[in-house]
Amino acid sequence: MSAETTTAAKEAASLRNNINEHSYRYYVLDAPSIPDNDYDRLFRRLQELEKNFPEVLVLESPTQRVGEKPQPHFDEVKHEVPMLSLGNAFDSEELGDFEKGIQKQLSDTSPLAYTCEPKLDGLAVSLLYENGKLVRAATRGDGSTGENITSNVRTIRSIPLALMGENIPRKLEVRGEVILPLQGFSQLNSKQIGKGEKVFANPRNAAAGSLRQLDSRITATRPLDMYCYAIGWMEGESLPATHGEVLAYLKSLGLKVNPEAAQVTGAEAVAEYCRAMAEKRSTLAYEIDGVVVKVDSLALQAKLGFVTRAPRWAIAYKFPAEEAVTQILDVDFQVGRTGAITPVARLKPVSVGGVTVSNATLHNLDEIKRLDVRINDFVVICRAGDVIPEVQRVVMAQRPDNATQIPQPKHCPVCNSELEYTEGEVIVRCDAGLACQAQLKEAIKHFVSRRALDVEGLGAKLVDQLVDEGLVNNVAELYHLNVEQLSKLERMGPKSAQNVKDALDKSKQTSLQRFLYSLGIREVGDATALALARNFGSLEKIQAANEEVLMAVDDIGPIVAQHIHHFFQQEENINVIHSLLDAGLEWDPVPVVAKSEGSQVAGKTFVITGTLALFTREQAKAKLQEQGAKVSGSVSKKTDYLVAGEEAGSKLSKAQSLGVEVIDEQQLQELLTLIQPHAKENL
Ligand code: IVH
Repeated sequence: MSAETTTAAKEAASLRNNINEHSYRYYVLDAPSIPDNDYDRLFRRLQELEKNFPEVLVLESPTQRVGEKPQPHFDEVKHEVPMLSLGNAFDSEELGDFEKGIQKQLSDTSPLAYTCEPKLDGLAVSLLYENGKLVRAATRGDGSTGENITSNVRTIRSIPLALMGENIPRKLEVRGEVILPLQGFSQLNSKQIGKGEKVFANPRNAAAGSLRQLDSRITATRPLDMYCYAIGWMEGESLPATHGEVLAYLKSLGLKVNPEAAQVTGAEAVAEYCRAMAEKRSTLAYEIDGVVVKVDSLALQAKLGFVTRAPRWAIAYKFPAEEAVTQILDVDFQVGRTGAITPVARLKPVSVGGVTVSNATLHNLDEIKRLDVRINDFVVICRAGDVIPEVQRVVMAQRPDNATQIPQPKHCPVCNSELEYTEGEVIVRCDAGLACQAQLKEAIKHFVSRRALDVEGLGAKLVDQLVDEGLVNNVAELYHLNVEQLSKLERMGPKSAQNVKDALDKSKQTSLQRFLYSLGIREVGDATALALARNFGSLEKIQAANEEVLMAVDDIGPIVAQHIHHFFQQEENINVIHSLLDAGLEWDPVPVVAKSEGSQVAGKTFVITGTLALFTREQAKAKLQEQGAKVSGSVSKKTDYLVAGEEAGSKLSKAQSLGVEVIDEQQLQELLTLIQPHAKENL
């Protein structure tokens, strides 16, 4: 190295230290120590040096946060230590039960010491540091395998590319939550609106979308942040004795940890922390959805171990659903797939737990009566997670003078056909069927949906256009579309048009179950469709079956039988089915399966809860049903097995209290593989 280069290297190293220190103060401590201009000057000097002396450039230089070109895809990362999930508690009683359970296991009734921290609503991410340098970052994925998002994570300014401090371990895998703080979230959405691009529903989605960018230059524009909350594993340094000390150690390495974390003793003090955090929630700069409570002693954590995929030593206390008060500006009526008319309240936009809500469902006309809700009323809106917000009650004390009754619709808001009110029926329907454009659109969306014919790329907007333009008047006409017609639609180029056409062609090879489900017969979900397929074996036989014959199938009662029979009597439906078969839809013959062909699960009732890692819940359900098991939505004494995935909540506790056998996915897999399933095409 020439003398000149050595001098440059020294200066670059000192600049890097200096810049890192200032970034740390700015992004981690939130306490900037120099004006932006001075910082920029240091940064530009470093860039200049690195440009003139490329040999002094290092990957952990602060100038190297943003990559220069997009990646083709994300590689897989296998987590050395699985990234677990947490059980839930919803009130102080459940927090008390959590402590009692631990005390019982330890045969010691003394109150326990815990660390409580906000449960951040973002994405769990793992960072791997080798010799103090960030070498890999990964998403949690299914807990065992995630995606390599190193380039994106490098752009997050509060994450050090090189650790600081004295006790830098040889290897450190640290975990935490990547979030988009509320201010960044609203700025991002304003920008998105300005560019005519999609608005993110909440900060979590925005953070997820930002981390999923293949081009880290886009991620770099999103003001993401990360709080670290655990060590996955470590080599070369020994772990401290408590979680509180782990957080202090991570902080000493320059990683950002949540300043709200606190040590408390006993379940009551935990409940108090949770109450205080719920109060503080609206003043925090980011969204949280609860509190994570962890047994403080790492030795006790090790002793307590895990159940399924969650530790016994930690629990997530979840805040109750969010509420807010706002005014109803108007009420519209929407038409669903089966013609059901649903009233939707248009609201003066209001933020409910960080999400702006401007519509809320009123479910049905009876609900309007029950709530005695009127236009211009002030109402309490409630939103729980991803559930559609609903109007919970009217604030009667605030009823304004101009509160007006919501008129009962006499005609379908879309096709204008007269609505019939049947005595005793809660739901009012438009009877026009597919002649009503709203129902036609919904029928097509259902037909192409994932569990039906799964036509990729044919989204809701496209379906709306196809119907509005009169290109498709029934589901069979989808197969008559050509690339030219498709490419003329909004947001469609020749390439996406070709993709849709290909996806439609591909969907022609299907299964009888999917086909039956896709027809959208009332009350026929995928389970009933499968039962029909397996019991009758062919479409012709189902079409020919009368109500009595249909009712012989397990789980098909008189009402469902009537819907099925009625559907296949309608001339319009018969014609559409003919056209679909003419268009080339086909499936393999279905073996009619007797219930007990050697499967361990046949005839047994299962309930699946929590998030599964090996299959999706749909797949697990389909596999079970394929082997003659029943899959129910709620736990009762009749349940034979509860399959508990991650974040199993109330169903798990109910199963335990009823003495229902609880199995994990691995055990389910074993039960399923004791015989080989034969009707694979249904998956
Ligand atoms: S600890 C075994 N601490 O919650 C311990 N998790 O349901 C597992 N989360 O996927 C994680 N804030 O993404 C922990 N302070 C915090 C957290 C936190 C948010 C998320 C995390 C995890 C999920 C567990």
